[in-house]
Amino acid sequence: MVDHKQNKSRHKPLFRIFNDINERYDLINRLFTWGMDKNWRDRLVTEMLKSRPQKVLDVGCGTGDLTIRIAQSAQENITVSGYDFSRPMLDIAERKARKCIARERISFIHGDAAGMPFRDATFDCIGISFALRNLLFENPSAHQYLCEIFRVLKPGGKFLSVDSSQPQNKIIRWLDHLYLCTYVYTIGMVISGDRCAYKYLTRSAMNFDSPEQLEKRFLAAGFHKFFYQPLFFGAAAIYGATK
Ligand SMILES: C[S@@+](CC[C@H](N)C(=O)[O-])C[C@H]1O[C@@H](n2cnc3c(N)ncnc32)[C@H](O)[C@@H]1O
Repeated sequence: MVDHKQNKSRHKPLFRIFNDINERYDLINRLFTWGMDKNWRDRLVTEMLKSRPQKVLDVGCGTGDLTIRIAQSAQENITVSGYDFSRPMLDIAERKARKCIARERISFIHGDAAGMPFRDATFDCIGISFALRNLLFENPSAHQYLCEIFRVLKPGGKFLSVDSSQPQNKIIRWLDHLYLCTYVYTIGMVISGDRCAYKYLTRSAMNFDSPEQLEKRFLAAGFHKFFYQPLFFGAAAIYGATK
């Protein structure tokens, strides 16, 4: 694992959450989404590999599921870097990657997404699964993160993310929010033992940007051709844009 010096803009409450819940993170994720998170990541991988990228970055890679999935699904000449500021999450990712057939194509780097150790225009494609909300929601460095992703992406390259979303239909949105603040909050708190973490995570999911707000943010960072593809009645979505 490569270590990049930490950037001072690190969002402190978030940093603590992911350092604390790492060993139970995958289990909690499966329970929250009834296993659908795997399928949603696969949908993202399909989108990412459409342009046959050779150098790919997974920002906020956590326990490495997206990084590994990309490396396993792609053609042989791909390299995939997983980047995260939580060392315990990266330790789990490395453990998983060692067992995977595509391990030669994978590397993990430790550091904050606000200042990444890559040259301008390094990657053909950049993906994020379930970490965009962490980078943007009530985060003072939100714009800086998007600009940094834009900087390390090649011109014409795609930035794609899968994350929770706000269902457009009012009744479905009400049910989604009820689900978040009862089931998700309770299960998360019981399994992780961290009330604060799950209060933050449910609040951020319930109040995350609409596609229109996200589009504005993406365009302000320099991207164009924003797109939005709802998944599971809009409870999740794939968001994307081009440099
Ligand atoms: C909800 S987890 C998602 C993990 C993984 N991508 C997945 O699909 O399960 C969010 C991850 O983003 C990481 N993260 C949050 N803010 C970050 C930042 N500023 N720089 C680097 N990583 C960050 C956290 O450490 C955590 O591992």
